[in-house]
Amino acid sequence: MNSREIRQKYLDFFRKRGHAVIHSAPIIPENDPTTLFTSSGMQPLVPYLLGQPHPLGKRLVNSQKSFRAEDIEEVGDNRHTTFFEMLGNWSLGDYFKQEQLPWFFDYLTKVVGLNPNRIYVSAFSGDHELGIGRDDESIKIWQEIFGRENMDAKVVEIITEENGGDNGMQGGRIFTYNANKNWWSRSGTPDKMPVGEIGGPDSELFYEFTHIEHNAKFGKHCHPNCDCGRFIEIGNSVFIQYKKTVNGFDELPQRNVDFGGGLERITAASENRADVFQTDLFLPTIHEIERVSGKKYEENAYAMRVIADHLRGVIFMASAGIQASNTDQGYILRRLLRRAVRYADTLSLPNGALHLLVTTSIRPFENVYNELSEKHGAIQHLIQEEEAKFRTTLARGMKHFEELTGDTISGQDAFVLFTTYGFPIEVTQELAKEKRMTVDLLAYETAMKNHQALSRAGAEQKFKGGLADNSEATVRYHTAHHLLLKALQIVLGPNVHQRGSNITAERLRIDFVSPHKMTDDEKRQIEEIVNNKIKECLPVSSTVMKKEEAETYGAEHEFNADYPEMVSVYSVGPKDATPENPKIKDAFSVEFCGGPHVKNTKELNGTFKIIKEEAVAAGIRRIKAVIE
Ligand code: SER
Repeated sequence: MNSREIRQKYLDFFRKRGHAVIHSAPIIPENDPTTLFTSSGMQPLVPYLLGQPHPLGKRLVNSQKSFRAEDIEEVGDNRHTTFFEMLGNWSLGDYFKQEQLPWFFDYLTKVVGLNPNRIYVSAFSGDHELGIGRDDESIKIWQEIFGRENMDAKVVEIITEENGGDNGMQGGRIFTYNANKNWWSRSGTPDKMPVGEIGGPDSELFYEFTHIEHNAKFGKHCHPNCDCGRFIEIGNSVFIQYKKTVNGFDELPQRNVDFGGGLERITAASENRADVFQTDLFLPTIHEIERVSGKKYEENAYAMRVIADHLRGVIFMASAGIQASNTDQGYILRRLLRRAVRYADTLSLPNGALHLLVTTSIRPFENVYNELSEKHGAIQHLIQEEEAKFRTTLARGMKHFEELTGDTISGQDAFVLFTTYGFPIEVTQELAKEKRMTVDLLAYETAMKNHQALSRAGAEQKFKGGLADNSEATVRYHTAHHLLLKALQIVLGPNVHQRGSNITAERLRIDFVSPHKMTDDEKRQIEEIVNNKIKECLPVSSTVMKKEEAETYGAEHEFNADYPEMVSVYSVGPKDATPENPKIKDAFSVEFCGGPHVKNTKELNGTFKIIKEEAVAAGIRRIKAVIE
């Protein structure tokens, strides 16, 4: 059965059992600022799982567009995707385990036609500390279900994954695992749930691909939760009956069923192909990548899977109105797309090939998600533009990357690779791996957090008019701007302070406090200072620090700006400054600034020239300057 039939027949199956079909909620959640994406079908239904009556009743079914950013790095194996469709059915305090488990089993075996012998299930092993016992009820129901098929259904106590790897299948059909595997909530295991969060034990169903040999890398023996790829989880029935409290758990006023099954995976099982990328949901794109690259999927599965998955994620996000950016969903979109560009390069796909894959990527969703074909052109355009943008800095970024030495890429370098050259962290990590280096992720994340806080709090005020864009030319002018301000202070006196600025790819403009018109000689001296600093090839460093510390360096403030507690400071020079030791005390210029800047003043690559000096208000002068 193809994905269309599987989706439709699932909805029909549950409709016949009294369920109302609801629309997929948008992939970007409405009215939920706590999360970037809808990552499961239950997410929009939380109020109803808590007891609020749903207008369509107590039984619901749908296919939900879902996105899991945390799985980006898992993509490349036979079963993980960032975007996926989740088939879901819910009982809002209505039916429970006795109906749910046989229904899903019947749907799989009688409608989709899976062989019951290839099906294995799991249940919660219980937890003393939580005071929640083993899920004997589910175990008993599963024994009845397999019994009807005349199958022996031995129960095996696995408890932990390690134990599973050590002991293997042991002839079992029903396996019990602890809360790491058989408990579900939006935040994960019971200990991770915040007070008020809902969840409960679950029962997963696995399909076995008998032609996939167990890989000992994942444990001595295989078992349903082994990651080798022989078993894939194709559905999860969660019994949402608990709410976290300060002391433990309370029973909810109603017992709910929250079922979710991956459409991609059920389709793979129905074709007995142990690879979701070989189902009709991805094949048109995989074939097109093979055709354009002249390479075979078998030998390039990893790269082709990443491209096909990431494009699909980008397409669904873009169809929901997300644009590439450096924050929130836009940042995830950018990460996906840039990572796809890197993998396109490893396959030698021509520049601009990615946007041409939109047509095949959306084909499986024709007449299912009409927004995709309606926005086809706009989505292509976004992908084309973002690829081009990335390519303008890719080569320079690679050059910068090649200059990094040692075993570890510092958080600061990873941060600069991102802010200045647009390298998403995954790209930096993969490049590092190729060079047998690691990335100091923690430090990178700290730098990013501070940077984001700073750009939200101060950047707009700091650059009135601001940077026109983040293009290479504009960034060069931004660094020249810092050199110029310092040169003005040297020549005209320390009381010169910036009052406004505007920087484009063609020129820079600065407004500053100064009582008199500049003489030609002053202009010449200022130009000379800036040009000397360009010639001296001074490194530019960015450091995140406490505001008070920055003030001890005499860092240049913007007039009246409010800065957060942690600030980002850019310093130019001295000659021997390094990212590990920026030697800010000896720098030529130090400013509170969110960036971006060039890595070294030699990148300014030209002669700085003042083209205009004029008054804009009483005591305020304006300079326009270019680099020729
Ligand atoms: N919410 C559960 C999951 O995501 C079942 O849909 O696995």
